[in-house]
Amino acid sequence: MTRPHSILSTSTPGGVPVLHYGADYNPEQWPDEILAEDIALMREAGVTMVSVAIFAWAELEPRDGEFTFERLDTVIEALHEAGIAVDLATATASPPAWLGLAYPETLPVTREGVRLGHGSRQHICPSSPVFRRYSARLASRLAERYGTHPAVRLWHVSNEYGNHVARCYCETSAAAFRDWLRERYATIEELNEAWGTAFWSQRYDSFDEVGVPAATPSFPNPGQEADFSRFSSDELLACYLAEKEAIREHSNVPITTNFMADFPPVNYREWARHVDVVTDDSYPEPVSQLAAREAAYVSDLMRSLGDGRPFYLMEQTTSAVQWRERNSRKRPGVFTLQSLQRVAHGADAIMQFQWRQSVRGAETFHSAMVSHSGRESTIWPEVVGLGHDLAALSDVVGSRVHADVALLMDWDSRFHRASAIGPGPDRGDAALRAWHGTAFERGYPVDVVFPDSDLRGYRVIIVPELFALSADLAAALTDAAHAGTQVIVTAPTGVLDDTGRAIEGGYASMLSDLLGIRVLEHRLPAGARPREVDPRVDTISAHIHPAGATDEVGIEVVPGSALDRTLERIAHPKPAPRGSLWAEELALEDDVEVLATFSDDDLAGWPALTYRPCGAGGGTYAATDLDAAGRAALLRLAEARARLCPPELPGGVESVRRGEFTFLLNHGERAAELSGQVGLNVLTGTRVTGHLVLPPRSAAVLREEEDA
Ligand code: GAL
Repeated sequence: MTRPHSILSTSTPGGVPVLHYGADYNPEQWPDEILAEDIALMREAGVTMVSVAIFAWAELEPRDGEFTFERLDTVIEALHEAGIAVDLATATASPPAWLGLAYPETLPVTREGVRLGHGSRQHICPSSPVFRRYSARLASRLAERYGTHPAVRLWHVSNEYGNHVARCYCETSAAAFRDWLRERYATIEELNEAWGTAFWSQRYDSFDEVGVPAATPSFPNPGQEADFSRFSSDELLACYLAEKEAIREHSNVPITTNFMADFPPVNYREWARHVDVVTDDSYPEPVSQLAAREAAYVSDLMRSLGDGRPFYLMEQTTSAVQWRERNSRKRPGVFTLQSLQRVAHGADAIMQFQWRQSVRGAETFHSAMVSHSGRESTIWPEVVGLGHDLAALSDVVGSRVHADVALLMDWDSRFHRASAIGPGPDRGDAALRAWHGTAFERGYPVDVVFPDSDLRGYRVIIVPELFALSADLAAALTDAAHAGTQVIVTAPTGVLDDTGRAIEGGYASMLSDLLGIRVLEHRLPAGARPREVDPRVDTISAHIHPAGATDEVGIEVVPGSALDRTLERIAHPKPAPRGSLWAEELALEDDVEVLATFSDDDLAGWPALTYRPCGAGGGTYAATDLDAAGRAALLRLAEARARLCPPELPGGVESVRRGEFTFLLNHGERAAELSGQVGLNVLTGTRVTGHLVLPPRSAAVLREEEDA
């Protein structure tokens, strides 16, 4: 039975909006006495919500069918009395020892055929009917008991689906895969065609012969791999849906599960349709200069997965993690600043892993809101300060971020790319992140768009490395350009169609109306290699010159072209963009403008960057992977054509508008002076009338005033 429910109920107890603040709370790791102290500290910190019982299955069901909820009752009651909301987990991410002992088939099997055991977490075969039955039973018992409890404002199903184990290769999974394939392909001939099994004698006579792509002597079949990726994402989703359905029998409270940025194995765009609020776990490397950029990228992605609806940051850390080789701390102010940055980009909750730092177990040295040194820790004042800041921002809840620039992402293309034995390396999300970074550095919030998104209305759409492209999406991009959008496409795009078949007659030809190009061949520079020959003695080989002896691809900007003029405006001396990784041979239609040519080796003189007007918009193509200067120049060119005007800000400062609030975030190490700022700084309660100084690593949030 499905009952109506509303995400509003997570954030509006008594009609008052709350920008939630809190953490994973794991009282099962602690003696009972700590509860009172924890609650006092939570109140001091301004905590409004905690995620409870995420890894508590062994405590809640110590033996098959014996449930012990008494402790959880006490915890939930105490939190409720303190006015702290509960995001109640279904506790199914780490099954107890007895389940795997009684039913070894619930444990996952690796590609090499090794069955993984108990003693860590996520030791789950997603296709196991036994696991699904037991996990749904626990979810159901929890929902029955707590589903109408006023403290429970959100259901947290399992935890980070696919983290650690995204695929299982056991016999149960193989049988489920065959059923999935029978649904997808009406006949075995269709499967043979889609997988190209005429190659290497891989043909199947019936679905019964098909297995999972387990360890093979050489390359596995790319079609089988891509389908197994889709299947594995669907199987994890089925686990989530089984628990969700069990909860819905007893509870109207919103239901979610936590995502992990752009985690490749799980198609979050598909999943986002099934969660009542999108939530994310995010841990940028604190010592990276790109941490703020990373926080912006994942936040833009999360907002976009829900088509612009606010998301919850379900996990981040106050300082260091324990799982990198070196676990650096966040610098003072960064926890607060990047939390406010997430709010600016659409977060309605800032939650951490975890509330109290563990004293035993694998995460003993992971930072928390309450660290081993307790209130004396230098992070505690920042924890309390952020609680105050978020309380001051409660009116932000529910408001939207407007973006003129969009970045196209498609999980299905990523599945194909990861499965294809491609012309070059699969760099995962590197190109998406790089192009998002270019827009971020220029001051744009970015919407991530997907093949099923509405593309109308964006001034600029960037399409980085869309390896597998459907005719429908190509048409939608072309239509957007006709209606006035500037579309930037980068190599390698449109190499396969959406069934995984290589395009004949020129890659990317489905975009030829938009771009006026077709790709005849891919070329890759050889990359930097150690010296292989000694010219004093290797008298033949020393005279052979391999193309492209470095990773770089030389580019020559056409003098006087629009690109050349744009580069002049960027800096003096004018930057000289470089490419890398890809260099393609392009065939051009007559009306295509060449902005730059390749300058190295056999491709010297061939077009590298092109532009073609298309209706009221236009299409830019980059036949190589551009460096930061090249990307910035193409974006500026598109921006000028699209009549966009980003804000002028001092270095290090990001400005994001959300609803009626302007978030001014100084990520830099120097104080920043801004002029022309007007409004009430809701973090300090002071009025700003023009001049504003932002200390290093700090933020101001200005609210428009009625009479201003
Ligand atoms: C997440 C996970 C948490 C915790 C955290 C540590 O992936 O959901 O349970 O392990 O990482 O950074």
